[in-house]
Amino acid sequence: MPDKTLPIGVFDSGMGGLTVMRALRTRLPGENFLYLGDTARLPYGTKSADTVTRYALTAAQALTARGIKMLVVACNTVSAVALPALTEALAPLSVIGVIEPGAEAAIAAAQGAAVAVIATEGTVKGGAYVHAIHDRAPFLPVAQKAAPLLVPLTEEGLVTGEIATLAVARYLTPLLATVPHPRILVLGCTHFPALKETIAEVAGPDVTLVDSAETTARAVEVRLDALGLRNPDRQGSSRFLATDAPDRFSRVGEIFLGAPIDPGSVEVVDL
Ligand code: DGL
Repeated sequence: MPDKTLPIGVFDSGMGGLTVMRALRTRLPGENFLYLGDTARLPYGTKSADTVTRYALTAAQALTARGIKMLVVACNTVSAVALPALTEALAPLSVIGVIEPGAEAAIAAAQGAAVAVIATEGTVKGGAYVHAIHDRAPFLPVAQKAAPLLVPLTEEGLVTGEIATLAVARYLTPLLATVPHPRILVLGCTHFPALKETIAEVAGPDVTLVDSAETTARAVEVRLDALGLRNPDRQGSSRFLATDAPDRFSRVGEIFLGAPIDPGSVEVVDL
């Protein structure tokens, strides 16, 4: 059984996974977190499943070598294509991805209404959300669309205003015109919660947004309790690792974490 005081490892292709880290820190303030953003090899969303799996395995090894008690795969693309490989390679360490908690949240919100998913090309190609939803609710209509432009847009801080609205509408307008009309929109990429305001405006009041950060944090809490792995300390800490450009990591990361990140606290690691 791992040491309870060890950090929870959180892994993403870059800074976007800090939206999940934010939800984790809110729900589990007593836990320590060790976050790794593979900024040198970002983006993952446009790469093949084999390449993403290879990158994810080396990144996960960097985290386990430093000592973690659980791995949270905050990246939707990695969760979509590499979760079985990670789970097998890291066993008996617990590995939690974001797709299944997101799918469960979508089904709960949908109440039988159609669901739409926006994500990276990699996530959409493998149909991970569609499969995860249909495994649990076989007859729920699910439409999906890759929205790759929204990733760099968010990293530029363009989360509201004319450009953001036009880009979001380019993807959402055809997707939400699908019949039957989706009433639930899953934000199937780490970056999209930062665009929530614009997405909600474009989608309109009839569409409910679902983001997997919250539900993933809940799934992690449940798993920690089931394994008796809660940190007994009251106040947790966060450490950050990046494979390149720590200044950019801290500057852009603040958009997703919703809190300042001292550039000096970001350690550069080579995978
Ligand atoms: N983290 C990725 C995801 O959630 C988005 C960024 C990327 O393409 O690497 O799918």
